[in-house]
This record gives sequence, structure tokens and C-alpha cells, in this order.
Amino acid sequence: MNTPGFHVYAALEGNLGLEAIREALPFGTPLRAVSLTDAVRAGSEVQHGADLIIVGCSQAHEQALEVIAAATAQRADRPVVVLYDGSPNGFLERAFEAGADDLVALPQSAGQLGFALEKAMARRRGAVAPSDEGSMITILGPKGGTGKTVTSSNLAVALALAGKSTVLVDLDLQFGDVGLALGIQPKRTIYDLAVSGGTLDGEKIDGFLAQHPSGAHALLAPLRPDQAAAVGTSFLREVFEILRSRHEFVLVDTPPAFTADVIAAVDVSSHLCMVGMLDALSLKDTKIGLETLEEMGYDPKGITLVLNRADSSVGITQSDVEQLLGRAPDVLVASDRAIPRALTSGQPIVVAEPKSKAARSYFALAERYLAVRTLPAATSNDNGRRRLLLRKAS
Ligand SMILES: Nc1ncnc2c1ncn2[C@@H]1O[C@H](COP(=O)(O)OP(=O)(O)OP(=O)(O)O)[C@@H](O)[C@H]1O
Ligand SMILES: [Mg+2]
Repeated sequence: MNTPGFHVYAALEGNLGLEAIREALPFGTPLRAVSLTDAVRAGSEVQHGADLIIVGCSQAHEQALEVIAAATAQRADRPVVVLYDGSPNGFLERAFEAGADDLVALPQSAGQLGFALEKAMARRRGAVAPSDEGSMITILGPKGGTGKTVTSSNLAVALALAGKSTVLVDLDLQFGDVGLALGIQPKRTIYDLAVSGGTLDGEKIDGFLAQHPSGAHALLAPLRPDQAAAVGTSFLREVFEILRSRHEFVLVDTPPAFTADVIAAVDVSSHLCMVGMLDALSLKDTKIGLETLEEMGYDPKGITLVLNRADSSVGITQSDVEQLLGRAPDVLVASDRAIPRALTSGQPIVVAEPKSKAARSYFALAERYLAVRTLPAATSNDNGRRRLLLRKAS
């Protein structure tokens, strides 16, 4: 939640969760906390200007529902997070119906609560683009070095070679290396776009895109880690929306963590691509990553699973993988020295050695997305209902 001037309004029964909220919010975030009774009395007026509403209750469920409904009636696009303790007694369903985006049972650590708040901020109802817009695929992998950048750069080039208008956004804002993977010398980066001022439009963004000889475009990561802070989630949402309206494929390479920026990208993506590696630690993280996405309400059927270095002999069989992850990988990529060799030469392997085993896997991955209309989507507009169904099912 690094949006400048971001305001939080908390309506809390007996200061429920106030300390945890203070700890969870980034230092200096403007927070206005009032009692539930005062919030009901003030109606929606008092919430005016807030970017995130938090409602905390343990007994006063009716008052909490009134505040949630008033907040939603005033601004349907603004996230509402409800904290509760004690027995919910049917309150959860009613809170979702009143317009809550997420419900968090207390007590929670500051880290967990912060994650829930970031998630709610990143997820604005109705943010998913209509289906006539380009496909947006976010490439994820909770562990570092699993092959996300190699996958996203090769996928971008394979789609461009298939004649599709494609742009790859490097969301690894601190240590992004899409430029290196594509052999492109960065001239202008996403940082330059973020600080350029004025309104964003397609032509303006075009001026900040680099181009690979295959035709693939790239919005490259900042040159230095300290520049990452200039790139906020609301700016990113705007960029994604504009790119989707102008390109058939928008791909997003990500850092090895579910940061607020990554969640913002995941939330407006039509499809997700999880890259895991055949080793015990990576598989454990892949499993947790898939479970987290499911908990967040994403349909696992819309997540393509790529298993990288799938032929490594590390004592893990394909059926071990299936048993652990609960599903078979969709695409297997072999360990191939041609990949680092291609990186050294500044060319993705689909161009440098298109007949290699690994390149063929990336072409197969591209084929899946070229038939994208037949792939189930990972997200839908009905986030609240999806989460409610998931909670009921679990
Ligand atoms: N199938 C493979 N065979 C051989 N080397 C590979 C393979 N996949 C990836 N590599 C090598 O592993 C390294 C990490 O790959 P990559 O940068 O794509 O991972 P990443 O998930 O993007 O990492 P990070 O989380 O740091 O962004 C690279 O040096 C790449 O050459
Ligand atoms: Mg990477």
C-alpha cells in the first residue's frame, strides 16, 4: 500500500483490532478510527475521502452491517475489510452480501493483517477487463530463480513470432532483468513513465516501451532498486488497463513474492502461469503459492502450471509431483544448458536455439495461450461471492 495520500477509515466496536491495524498499515498512513456507534450516527458522510474502510466488531453485528452497506452505497469500488472476533453466527454471509470484500478473524499478526489489507486494496470490484480486451497473463513463482523471467521472456517472443501484438511488463521492480533476458539495452523504464507526470494514455506509454526484434514490446524495470517506490499500485492498474486495450497479450514477469504490486497484477489478469522447479523446496513453495491463490479466490483451472528443470534427477518422480501439488503440470521444461547460453548471448532460447527441447516447451506454452479462448479464466468479477463459496467449501 505505497499509494501516496492513502486514507484509511476504521469503524471499530470498542477499538477492536486498532493496535493490529496501526501495526499493519505502513508507517504514516493517515488513519481515522471512530467507534461503530459514531460511524452509524454519522452515516456515509464521515467516510468521504477514505480509500479503505475497515469495520471491526465482535457483538454489534447489526451496526457493522449498517456501516458496510453505507460505505458500499457511497462508493462501490472502494474496498471494505471486516475484522471480527467471537462467533460469527451467520454474520459472514450477511457481511459479504452488504458489500464486504474480505473478512478477517482476529487475532492476526500484523503481517497477516497487512497482507489482507493489501489484498483488498489491490482488488477493486469490477477491475477485471471485459473479455474483448487482450489476454493478460501474470507469471508467478514464489521461490527465487525458478525460471519466471526465462519463461516470460520466451513466451513473449514466441507469441510475437506467432504474429500477436505482445507486451511484457517487468514487475520485478527492484531487480528486474527482462531487459537482459531479451538482450535490450534499457533507455526508458517503468520508473520514467511513473514520474513523467500528466495523464496516461496509450500513445504516451508506447514512448516508454522497448522493442525486441521479434516484435515483442517490453516495459522494463527501473534501473535501480530505490526507484521502485515511485511505482504505485493505482498507476500499475491504469497501465495494465491501457496495455490490455492495445495489445493481444500483456505478460507480467514478477519478483519471487506476493507483493501488493503482484496482487494488483494477478487481480486484473485473465490467466496466471505458475513456474515451479523440480526440487523439494521449490515444490513446497509452489504448493503454498497455488493454495494461496485459491484462498484468494482464483480458480486453479485458470492457472497454467509450468514445471521447470523437469528432467533433473533429484529423486522426485512425476507422480510424486502430482501427489504433492494435487495436479499434473501443464508444461514441462527440461534442464537445458542452451538456456543460460542463450541468456549470455542476449537472445531468448526460442530465437537462439528454436529446435532445442526447452524452446519447444516454450512454443508449446505459447500454443496454450494462442488457444486462450478455450482456457478457463483465473478471475471473474464476482470476487466477494467467489470467496464466500470458497470459505463455505472449506
Ligand atoms: N530449464 C533451465 N535449464 C537451465 N537453466 C535454467 C533453466 N531455467 C532457468 N535456468 C537458469 O536459472 C536462472 C534463473 O532463471 P530466471 O532468472 O528465469 O528465474 P526467476 O524465477 O526469474 O528468478 P528471480 O526470482 O530471481 O526473478 C537463470 O540463470 C537461467 O539461465
Ligand atoms: Mg526473474
